[in-house]
Amino acid sequence: MCGKRALFGWMYQRLLKPVLFRFPADDVHERFLAIGRSLGRSRSIRSMIAWLWRYDDQRLVQTVSGLVFPNPIGLSAGLDYRADLSALAPSLGFGFHSIGTLTLEPYAGNPRPMLDRLPKSRALLVNKGFRNEGIAAVLARIGPSADPRPPRGVSIGATNRPYPDFSALIADIVDGFRTAERFAGFDYYELNISCPNLVNLRDVKPEIGSPEGLSRLLAALSPVVLARPVFIKMPLERTEADMLALVDTARPHAFIKGLILSNLAKDRSNPAFDRAEIAKAGPGNFSGKPTQAQSNAMLRTLYRHCRGRFVLIGTGGVFTAEDAYAKILAGASLVQLVTGMIYEGPQVIGSINAGLAEYLVRDGYASVSDAVGARADRG
Ligand SMILES: Cc1cc2nc3c(=O)[nH]c(=O)nc-3n(C[C@H](O)[C@H](O)[C@H](O)COP(=O)(O)O)c2cc1C
Repeated sequence: MCGKRALFGWMYQRLLKPVLFRFPADDVHERFLAIGRSLGRSRSIRSMIAWLWRYDDQRLVQTVSGLVFPNPIGLSAGLDYRADLSALAPSLGFGFHSIGTLTLEPYAGNPRPMLDRLPKSRALLVNKGFRNEGIAAVLARIGPSADPRPPRGVSIGATNRPYPDFSALIADIVDGFRTAERFAGFDYYELNISCPNLVNLRDVKPEIGSPEGLSRLLAALSPVVLARPVFIKMPLERTEADMLALVDTARPHAFIKGLILSNLAKDRSNPAFDRAEIAKAGPGNFSGKPTQAQSNAMLRTLYRHCRGRFVLIGTGGVFTAEDAYAKILAGASLVQLVTGMIYEGPQVIGSINAGLAEYLVRDGYASVSDAVGARADRG
């Protein structure tokens, strides 16, 4: 492992994380974004951070849905909901970066705490409910960039407010896409149909994440001309039959290019939780290790089922190169993470990429694309 990353990783584990984890997670998150935003303004700081942490390797480069990804490790939706990390994310070593989830109308977020940590379970408790300033306000801020940069995406979901009926909810999402389409500075969409924290949407039927709900949503979205590929952010805890029904609902819609597996975990009986820790957890849903096994299993299933129709993007419980490689072998062309960076430190993105390149060489793959799905038939 590169000495610079290893040294910072040690410092993060021993010095920085113990201090950060003493403060409320909501405050640390806000401060982290503010620092990321100000560091990203300076070209020399960006270059220095890239020199310290970023790992580049031709074997990791892929073209997916017409976009060139310098490496397969991206920032998952949820962390950067104000586009604060737009400038810095490539220097941190990310091969792509999702902003949001953003909604048509701003939403202040659920009552605090919106975030908490479960260190023994290697998880975060999330109850934000799409805190964001609204699509237009955030996208106006990022604007087009002069320099070449890795792909940047925008996750769009329903505004967390009461709706009179399902048609009104669909109209909100479709207007969100129409609004976003007017802006430059990003390259793909995520359609979030799977956030478990939207308290105000619970009584609207059908559910947006059901085959009937998705079918109506995609029918409404189809006439909107979108210049960028759309990836659907899928729910986690569904039966195989339910997931296949969702996939088959999306299949006829050519503008849906990929599926992201998966969103947060709700099930508190998940064996990955430390029992004492989960017993004390407040309202919300979970990221990290408790999402890993099920999202990997679903990747394998959908890789076999989709037969190349959809690009698969794996997310959930990636802390190491081995975790990311497992998703790639299971069928993911790209991998996203949030929680791994918080537990391991920002140098982990470069470390994962360096480790991936080593695994490719070890296993005789010329590029990451050659490894995608290589073990989808196992398990
Ligand atoms: C703080 C936080 C906020 C999140 N917010 C969103 C969100 O707004 N939209 C979304 O699609 N996923 C959201 N997620 C889910 C992540 O994108 C990801 O699917 C999940 O956390 C599993 O990845 P991880 O284990 O690497 O964190 C959020 C996750 C975290 C930790």
